[in-house]
Amino acid sequence: MRLLITGGAGFIGANFVHSSVRVHPEDSLTVLDAMTYAGSRESLAAVENDIRLVQGDITDAELANKLVAESDAVVHFAAETHVDNALADPEPFLRANVIGTFTVLEAVRAHGVRLHHVSTDEVYGDLELGNARRFTESTPYNPSSPYSSTKAASDMLVRAWVRSYGVRATISNCSNNYGPYQHVEKFIPRQITNVLTGRRPKLYGSGTNVRDWIHVDDHNSAVRRILADGQIGRTYLIGAEEERDNLSVMRAILRLMDRDPDDFDHVADRAGHDLRYAIDPSALYDELGWAPKHTDFEDGLRATIDWYRDNETWWGPLKDATEAKYEGRGQ
Ligand code: NAD
Ligand code: TYD
Repeated sequence: MRLLITGGAGFIGANFVHSSVRVHPEDSLTVLDAMTYAGSRESLAAVENDIRLVQGDITDAELANKLVAESDAVVHFAAETHVDNALADPEPFLRANVIGTFTVLEAVRAHGVRLHHVSTDEVYGDLELGNARRFTESTPYNPSSPYSSTKAASDMLVRAWVRSYGVRATISNCSNNYGPYQHVEKFIPRQITNVLTGRRPKLYGSGTNVRDWIHVDDHNSAVRRILADGQIGRTYLIGAEEERDNLSVMRAILRLMDRDPDDFDHVADRAGHDLRYAIDPSALYDELGWAPKHTDFEDGLRATIDWYRDNETWWGPLKDATEAKYEGRGQ
């Protein structure tokens, strides 16, 4: 299969490329990535001879058309992804997430190419703390942030292009990912690298907010299953049933790094901070026979800490600028 992977130099996309080279060496892989602050050639260095890497923007219709025409399927990861950045400056999110997805859709429509659109559970808004409700495919969209609202818009475009133009697309909405190559602006790598650089970890508000964690390799194995056997037009929710509040994750990181569990700062809470995300992945289990492999969160966290400890050359150059940005926002 000739696969076009948009955003393949970002966190999840790069891990997808690595696992594809390992598990599907018969595929030919092209990465299209604009190399924003979140994209990194270094993340693909180990597979650079196995792939074609094109630096370019998904909103460039001519380039998107050319690359899509040469592909059998597109896995669309490219997006602006960080909620705090979206709150500070939403415009790039409109451009990359909405216009970018529109451009990809027009290209797959023109060439009859299969699309898998990668999205987030944040499109459903948030759930209350302390009840058993979880997101399912039929939960109404109710996004809270400029990030989640632009992802919701992109999902709606995909649905409309399936219905109106017969585009062969599937959508997945996944919970919070962790693992190697995640930008140090995100919660887990930020705290790990704060400890590694002698900074104090930073918790927003009281830390009662709950996220549902999944190892990035499990997200990507689910994307592969959907690409192979998913029903066109369907939305699949991906999750590993690992709900944790932020305070517990913070304390687990500190414990695994041999620090005092209270050795962190409470900082200003995020505006509009979503309380709880939780995915009911049973449709994916039942219909596609998928299941996560990284079922022990602390094991996954330990391996992730080891990866950041061993790969300071990858994240070191990003750290000071990221923290300076947070400091400017009082976080
Ligand atoms: P990331 O920010 O680490 O990487 C995004 C990549 O997209 C970067 O390499 C960036 O250079 C590229 N990009 C951005 N705008 C582009 C454009 N206009 N043209 C071409 N490339 C562009 O993000 P991630 O965490 O790897 O997320 C990938 C996808 O998965 C996103 O669509 C995101 O919404 C979705 N998702 C992420 C999570 C998570 O926990 N990280 C959870 C569920 C869904
Ligand atoms: P994040 O990794 O930004 O993912 P998302 O907001 O998309 O879920 O944040 C995960 C949770 O951690 C979220 O509730 C905000 C919180 N958080 C902190 O407490 N401290 C931090 O330094 C960051 C970046 C996030």
